[in-house]
Amino acid sequence: MGKFLGFGGVLRLGVFLMGVGLSGATALAQELSVRVDKPGAVIQPTMWGIFFEDINMAADGGLYAELVKNRSFEFSEPMMGWKGKALVINRSEERPDNPRFVRVEPGAVLVNEGFRGMGIKQGEMYHFSVWTRGGGALAVELQSPSGAVLGSLRMRLKPGEGWHKDTASFVATATEPKARLSVKYDGKGTLDLDMISLFPQHTWRERPGGLRADLVQLLADLRPGFIRFPGGCIVEGRTLEGRYQWKKTVGKVEDRKQIVNRWNTEFAHRPTPDYFQSFGLGFFEYFQLAEDIGASPLPILNCGMACQFNTAEVVPVEGLDPYIQDALDLIEFANGPVSSKWGALRASMGHPESFHLKMMGVGNEQWGPQYVERYKVFSAAIKARYPDVRLVNSVGPNPDGELFDFLNDTLRKMHADILDEHYYRNPEWFLQQAKRYDNYDRSGPRIFAGEYAAQSDKVVSVNNKNNWRSAISEAAFMTGLERNADVVQMASYAPLFAHVEGWQWTPDLIWFDNLRSYGTPDYYVQKLFANNRGSVVVPLTQGGETLTGQGGLYGSACLDNGTGELIVKLVNAGDGEVRPVISLLGGKKKTGKGTMTVLKAGLEDVNSLDAPTAVSPTESAMLLQGNKMTPVLGGHSMAVIRIKI
Ligand code: AHR
Repeated sequence: MGKFLGFGGVLRLGVFLMGVGLSGATALAQELSVRVDKPGAVIQPTMWGIFFEDINMAADGGLYAELVKNRSFEFSEPMMGWKGKALVINRSEERPDNPRFVRVEPGAVLVNEGFRGMGIKQGEMYHFSVWTRGGGALAVELQSPSGAVLGSLRMRLKPGEGWHKDTASFVATATEPKARLSVKYDGKGTLDLDMISLFPQHTWRERPGGLRADLVQLLADLRPGFIRFPGGCIVEGRTLEGRYQWKKTVGKVEDRKQIVNRWNTEFAHRPTPDYFQSFGLGFFEYFQLAEDIGASPLPILNCGMACQFNTAEVVPVEGLDPYIQDALDLIEFANGPVSSKWGALRASMGHPESFHLKMMGVGNEQWGPQYVERYKVFSAAIKARYPDVRLVNSVGPNPDGELFDFLNDTLRKMHADILDEHYYRNPEWFLQQAKRYDNYDRSGPRIFAGEYAAQSDKVVSVNNKNNWRSAISEAAFMTGLERNADVVQMASYAPLFAHVEGWQWTPDLIWFDNLRSYGTPDYYVQKLFANNRGSVVVPLTQGGETLTGQGGLYGSACLDNGTGELIVKLVNAGDGEVRPVISLLGGKKKTGKGTMTVLKAGLEDVNSLDAPTAVSPTESAMLLQGNKMTPVLGGHSMAVIRIKI
């Protein structure tokens, strides 16, 4: 953990000075102009996306709707999450990917505690399943913490020598965020059990063994352009052995080899000893999720390097073949014909059509010459076979400094496709960097703002808050990304999810418990940008100068070619009200009516499970009169104006 304090540099928030912002509470008038006849940079459909990493219980205990923790007894402590008497048997010779199962005596009761309990809803159907060998019957109950029965079933098991799967369903009679599952064996002789599982019927798109519907809905509502997956440092692993290997996350769930989650032990101050990766949410489910919500997939693969904040192990360059093969095979898994080896696996999992994978990240947050050496070999092999796949490169963990400069220079000379910049900085940095891309080389690699979030305290501090102070600074920064859409072609806030009782890292975009979830102020900023993406940037100026924070006012403007609307985004980072007069130049339309969507809050305001939309957008009408619009922007507010021109 101590190592982590180094990355990104620890920047203190200090006072929210708004060096480029306002002070005082007087209303200021600003004359702004939009040249609607001067279309500039094209905004890519991928512009605003999602970064998914299994950190903070984002997958097991989160997005993956499985309610049983340690369902196949593969945690380092095989009975972790379980109470009851059982003999743990390891058959690693026979089943190396799912070696353990348990053997119980007649009358034995096994109780699973779930992921910080199990969230159960009254009137909803739950599907119980188990692999057994032996026969007899199981009495299955959902229980409240005090032992009240919230739903039950009795399951007769097929007798016999071999393993088989039994399933049965029941309806919960009460809502309970902290339920547990009790499984009692009624029978003669011993019974063997494995893969003890409980899923709600109601998952995203009602898929059996699927994803938590409320969490996917929050993602779908963002209308993201892409999903980066599976991270994040989890790609790298603390050691190479612990790296993310996509091939171990596809096929039948009972054959996906579980490993410890690297965030389990990362931070001594946020220990999560029960954090493992079942890979129930694996690469197939990821591609399917991206397709469901209209996002392009952007997998990030290990490039033969373990996390440089941890062991920093590397594979010798001449030993890279299996890593490169994994990358090539992933492209085949996503896009290959059903007659190919990996395309056939995709088809057997229910998706014969291509997932249309067009880009891929080589390494996560790598740095140094060791990355360049490995990247060269990777890119040569991938480009030789798949010349149209665009590659995303790391430029290290920081947006500046020695590590950044080295990779930035080197990879530009190598004509890299896309550079992945990361910024975990304080809100003031985000305000100051709204101009970051104004002078970037227009003919060099495109930029992916691959991980960013304003830190209200400092990187990896447990005191970081998803408050409006942070969110509005990100909004100001994002106007700079949009304005430079010819250079910046993708951006994603990070991390995405956090369980309120199981997190390691804050801030995060979406928080949840076992039954509820909410978007943070940062979420609503992301949503406003992504839902109002537009097609092409047009100039937004003040006194002939591009608007980049003059008087604390930030902004960007674009046209939506689909709807024929002008979209103006304005961020008033100061505390005084601003009344800009926006003149539309070069267009024909002089009058009209549109909408203005506003996010406004106190700087310390946050959302929570009990007040999930305390900071959320409100919409009102916006008039265009004599070619002019006169919105009123309260202190510390963001507005998105849409008007047909
Ligand atoms: O988003 C959390 C972590 O921050 C990611 O895993 C890593 O890439 C970055 O350092």
